[in-house]
Amino acid sequence: MEYVSEVFFELESYHIRGGNPIRGEYRVNGAKNAALPILAASIVTGGENLFDGCPCISDVAVMREILETLGCKVRQDKGQVLADTSGLSDWQVEKRLMEKMRSSIFLVGPLLTRCGRAIVSQPGGCAIGKRPVDIHKKALSQLGAEIEEKDGQLIFSGSDLRGTNIVLDFPSVGATENVMMAALGAKGETVIHNGAKEPEIIDLQNYLNSCGAKIKGAGTSRIVIKGRQRLHGSSYEIMGDRIEAGTFLMAAAGTGGELVLRGLETDSLKCLIRFLRYAGCRVRRKPREVWLRGPGRLYAVEKLQTGPYPEFPTDLQPQFSALMTAAAGRTQIEERIFENRFKSLRELTKMGADIEIFQRIAIIKGAECLKGAPVSAEDLRGGAALVLAGLMAQGETIVENIKFIERGYCDFHKELKKLGADIDRCI
Ligand code: EPZ
Repeated sequence: MEYVSEVFFELESYHIRGGNPIRGEYRVNGAKNAALPILAASIVTGGENLFDGCPCISDVAVMREILETLGCKVRQDKGQVLADTSGLSDWQVEKRLMEKMRSSIFLVGPLLTRCGRAIVSQPGGCAIGKRPVDIHKKALSQLGAEIEEKDGQLIFSGSDLRGTNIVLDFPSVGATENVMMAALGAKGETVIHNGAKEPEIIDLQNYLNSCGAKIKGAGTSRIVIKGRQRLHGSSYEIMGDRIEAGTFLMAAAGTGGELVLRGLETDSLKCLIRFLRYAGCRVRRKPREVWLRGPGRLYAVEKLQTGPYPEFPTDLQPQFSALMTAAAGRTQIEERIFENRFKSLRELTKMGADIEIFQRIAIIKGAECLKGAPVSAEDLRGGAALVLAGLMAQGETIVENIKFIERGYCDFHKELKKLGADIDRCI
C-alpha cells in the first residue's frame, strides 16, 4: 500500500518551455469523477469487484485507503482495481482522509445502505467555492436518515430508510449520486427529480445495475431506484474521462497542434467542440474518436457560460479561459456553478494575460502572446490551465504546487512530453 505524501508533492513543480505544438494520438484514462463514486458504491455489494480503467491518480489512492480503513481489501495494479468489500467492519471515515477530497462525501450513501449508519466530517476538495453539503443532507433526511452534527462530525443513521419522491434544489452531481446509493437500501421506490445529468451518473447507474440494482433514468433529471434488491460484486470498466479529454484537446488547440483522441463516448464533448470550432479549430468527431487541428492563433469567443450538463462543463472552464488569454479578441466568461473558480486566471496575469474579474464574470482581452513566468496551482483544473498557458507561452513557465494537478491527471507531464511538449517534473 503506497501512501501519498503531501510533503513530497509540495516540492514538486513542472518546468515548461512553451511554443511546441501538441501533436499525435492520445487515449484517455478512466474518468476520475466516475471511478470515485463507483469505488465508494462497491461497499453496497459486500463482495468482490473488479474494475478496469481506474486512473492512477492520488484521489483514487485516497479512496482506496478509505475503503481499506473501513475493513475492505483493495488492490490496484495499473488501471485495474480489485475491491473486496465483504470484510467491511466500520462506518466512520477518518477525518484526515475526509479532508483530502470532496468525493469522501460519497461514502455516506453506500454506508447507510450497507450498515444503516455513517460518520463523516466535512469533505475536502478543490477550494473553488463554499461547497456545502446541505442538498445531500436534505435529500438523505427525506429518505428517513437521522443526521446529528457533533464535534465537527456528521453522524448519519437510518436502518429503516423508505423510498420517496426527492426534488433536489439544484442538480448537484454528488448529491444525486449519494441519494442513488442510499436509495438502494430504502424500502420501496425512490424517484429523484431535478437530478444531475452528467455522464458519470450514467456510469454509476450502469455499474450498480451490473451488481443487481434496478435503477433507470440516469442521464435525465428523473432517476428511479428500486430499493432492497439483492446486490453482488461485479466486473466493470470505468468510462473514459471527458475532462481529461477536453484538457488534451485544448492543449492541441492552444499550441496550433493536431491531436487524435480516443477512449471515450465523444457525445460528452459536444459543447466543448462547438466552442473550439468558434475559436477557429477544425474538429471532426466520431462516436469514440475526435480529430482536432488548432489554428495559428485562436479567435476569442464572445461569450461562454458554464452550467449543469449538457451545458459547458465547469471543469473545463479554467482551461478554456487560459486559451482565451492569447486569443484574438475579447471574451466574457461566466462561471455559474462555483463561486470561486477564477484563481488560475489571476495567476495568468503574471504571464501577461489581460483580465478583469467581477465575481462570477471574467472579461479576457487576448494578448498577442503570453510570457513564461513562475505561477502556482491552487486547484486541480486551474493547475491544468496553468500548464496549458505554459505550453502556449514564449519562454519558461514554472508551475508550482502540482499536487493539485496530480490528483486528477495521471502522468500528465509524461503524456504531454510524448505529444511534443518541452516539459519536465522537477524538485
Ligand atoms: C462534482 O463535484 C465533481 N467532482 C466536480 O469536479 C464538478 O466540478 C462538479 O461535480 C460539477 O460538475 C466529483 O465528481 C468528484 P455539485 P460536486 O454538488 O458533486 C453546490 C473536478 O475538478 N452545492 O454538482 O461537489 C456546490 O457548492 C471536480 O474534477 C450546494 O450548494 O459538485 C456547487 O456550487 C471539481 N450544496 C454546485 O452546487 C450541496 O449540498 C455544484 O456542486 C451540494 C452542492
